Order: sequence, then C-alpha cells, then structure tokens
Amino acid sequence: MSFDKNLFTNKKILIAGAGKGIGLACAAMAAEYGADVIAVARTESDLDKLVARYPERITPWVMDVTSEDFYQKLRELPTLDGLVNNAGINSVGPMEAQSSENIDAVIDLNIRTLYKISQAAITPMKRSKAASIVNMSSQMGFVGSQGRTLYCMSKHAVEGVTKAMAVELADHNIRVNTVAPTFVLTPMTEPMFEDEAFKSFVFNMIPLGRLAKVEDIANSCTFLLSDLASMITGTSIKVDGGWTAR
Ligand SMILES: NC(=O)c1ccc[n+]([C@@H]2O[C@H](COP(=O)([O-])OP(=O)(O)OC[C@H]3O[C@@H](n4cnc5c(N)ncnc54)[C@H](OP(=O)(O)O)[C@@H]3O)[C@@H](O)[C@H]2O)c1
Repeated sequence: MSFDKNLFTNKKILIAGAGKGIGLACAAMAAEYGADVIAVARTESDLDKLVARYPERITPWVMDVTSEDFYQKLRELPTLDGLVNNAGINSVGPMEAQSSENIDAVIDLNIRTLYKISQAAITPMKRSKAASIVNMSSQMGFVGSQGRTLYCMSKHAVEGVTKAMAVELADHNIRVNTVAPTFVLTPMTEPMFEDEAFKSFVFNMIPLGRLAKVEDIANSCTFLLSDLASMITGTSIKVDGGWTAR
C-alpha cells in the first residue's frame, strides 16, 4: 500500500527533528514521494545516513531548532510547502519530583519552540500555493497518565495552539493539524519498555494490543502534508490504536 509516487513532486518540506525515530520516518517518507526535504537535527551522523539513502532529495541542516540562527535560515527560504514540528522531549515522573529545569525544558522544546518554528515558517509558506504544518502531538494531548502530567500539559498545549494557528493562518491557505501517536518504539521510548510492568500497562491500554510503528505515524503525517488533506485543518489524527477511545 502506498500513496502516489508523485505526491510531493515540486514540494519543499522541512522536518524539525529528523535524525531519529518518528521524524526520521516522516523525512524518509516525504523523500520517497518526491519532496525536497530539509532535514534538521543536531547529530550530523544521523543526517548523513538519511542523505546516503536519498542523496537527491535531502538537504541536511545540522542545527538546533531552538536557535535564532535556525529561525533566521528558515525565514529566508524562498518558499516552503510543508513543515513537521516533530522535535519534542518527555520528562517522566511524579509531579512533586519535577525540577524547575525539567519543567522549563519540556515547555521550551514542546511548546515555545514549536511556536517559534511555525512563526518563522509563515513568511516562506505564504509564498506557497497551499502549505501544511503538522505538529507532532501525542495521545497525551487528550488524556492524562500517571507520571506524565508535565508531558500531557505540553501536548495539550500543542493541540490548543494547533487549532488557534489553523484559524489564524487559514487566510494564507496554510493548514495546521496534529498527529497524535500512542507509544512508538523509538530511541526516546526504548528505555521505558525495559520495565515489564510498564510494558504490560501500555499493551493493556491499547485496544489493538500493539505499539505503533514509526511508519504508522509517517503515513498520517504524509497524508496531512499532502493536498489529499486540502480541506482538513485545525484537527488531529490520533494514531493510538484506540487508547483514547476507552
Ligand atoms: N516515541 C513515542 O512513543 C511518541 C509517542 C507520542 C508522541 N511522540 C512525539 O513524537 C516526537 C518525536 O519523538 P521520538 O520518539 O521520535 O523522538 P526521538 O527518538 O528522541 O527523536 C527526536 C529527534 O529530534 C531531534 N531533536 C531533538 N531536539 C532537537 C533540537 N533542539 N534541535 C534539532 N533537533 C532536535 C533529535 O536529534 P538530535 O538529538 O540529534 O538533535 C532526533 O532526531 C516528539 O514530539 C514526541 O513527543 C513520541
């Protein structure tokens, strides 16, 4: 099963946080369907591997997405058709144990940076005929979960700002949506699944009884980035195997 091979021909798409996990899968899929992909991450060797797979399609930017240099470079792009705000972190633990540093770090990357990247993308996106922003949210943008209140707060904010951006940017034909995954096995989550009790909790919470694959998330991201979703804005695709339906 696949989308049309020319889905993204002549489209420029930037993936913020493209070196590993979900962002890597989104970048690879966009390249597969013909996009010119700007892949952004801080680890050069990760981006080198992606370039080796799609030398014609990937432009690597080894940059920190929280930096003013990055926002400046993004603002100066001649045009931009797609943006995936994927960089995000978690800080798991009880509310009482979260330090101010942890709270600031999660808010800074998951909320403030997403806003700043989107803000910088508006100028080049206004020059696109039809642009799309996908914010990487989580099922935790819809529910609460033990030890995840800080992360839930940040992802609920992602859901909220997505609706607000969709309304504000609609005049420029910039659509804004989220993809909200359940647990996916990535470098971010691998250590969590070493805990057997946690693993069985997660599998019991997902009616489909399995974790999502990075490709499951990239498929929804690809759809929302594409013109197939041209009437869809201000909403979310939950790729959660039914977690939030309980
Ligand atoms: N994995 C899951 O189960 C899951 C579930 C729901 C939602 N999500 C969300 O999906 C997104 C991606 O998660 P993931 O598990 O794929 O994460 P991951 O494996 O940790 O990968 C994150 C990617 O973002 C890059 N990145 C992080 N901070 C950056 C920065 N300041 N500047 C540039 N690049 C940066 C990392 O590269 P460098 O460190 O080299 O920069 C890496 O390539 C997050 O927003 C997360 O909240 C994940």
